[in-house]
Amino acid sequence: MIRIYKAKDYNDLSRKAANIISAQIIMKPNCVLGLATGSSPVGTYRQLVEWYKKGDLDFSEVHTVNLDEYKGLSGDNTESYRYFMNTNLFEHVNINIANTNVPNGQAVDPEAECRRYNELIRSLGGIDLQLLGIGHNGHIGFNEPEEAFEKETHLVALTQSTIEANARLFDDPKDVPHYAFTMGIKSIMQARKILIIASGADKAQIMHDAFFGPVTPKIPASILQIHNDLTIVADEAALSQTDLKGMKNSDY
Ligand code: GLP
Repeated sequence: MIRIYKAKDYNDLSRKAANIISAQIIMKPNCVLGLATGSSPVGTYRQLVEWYKKGDLDFSEVHTVNLDEYKGLSGDNTESYRYFMNTNLFEHVNINIANTNVPNGQAVDPEAECRRYNELIRSLGGIDLQLLGIGHNGHIGFNEPEEAFEKETHLVALTQSTIEANARLFDDPKDVPHYAFTMGIKSIMQARKILIIASGADKAQIMHDAFFGPVTPKIPASILQIHNDLTIVADEAALSQTDLKGMKNSDY
């Protein structure tokens, strides 16, 4: 089942996404949240922090597993995804930092790190709700086009377009790592619920291709069409190439 919620703009999208995550935490206080980085979820995390500060949310029993991390970066490197999560969410809510997980970018044995991460997800009982953004080429996490659908956590070589897209977040574009650890499509598809968010006209074409075209490894996010509990929250700009009329099982 696919639900699509069309938001007016980024703020509206962030509130809607935060509402869905809040509902998960309220319904299951010890839930496992799969979390994402990038510009898309920043507003969602800001909204969750605001509701936490108002006393509406309790993260004390929540566990988190993040999708991905750059290879070679330590958690205190300001460009690392661990640092992003700490500063955008974890430091501002009452989560036990020991219950938050991001792949270790500095692991000396990458294969062992991937195994550890897969076992960790299993030992937590799987992911209740996985939050995702989407790359311009349809990547989710760092699963680039043509990746096999069946993988769990693995090390990937980033495509040139992803390296360029992410260079804006680095002081020196030359510092963007070329490799990353990422949960695979298989790990993502095993989440009980998936929430994908997208904002802005630059995501309009890929949102159309990923969710209204064929399922293909050329567009990794397209596999989400066959997940049985997928929610899409996107703003008008990101849905501007998409005709929602006549879609069954959608709410917009
Ligand atoms: C990065 C992350 C993805 C993210 C994507 C889109 O490559 N690894 O998890 O979804 O970028 O980011 P943004 O939300 O900034 O467009």
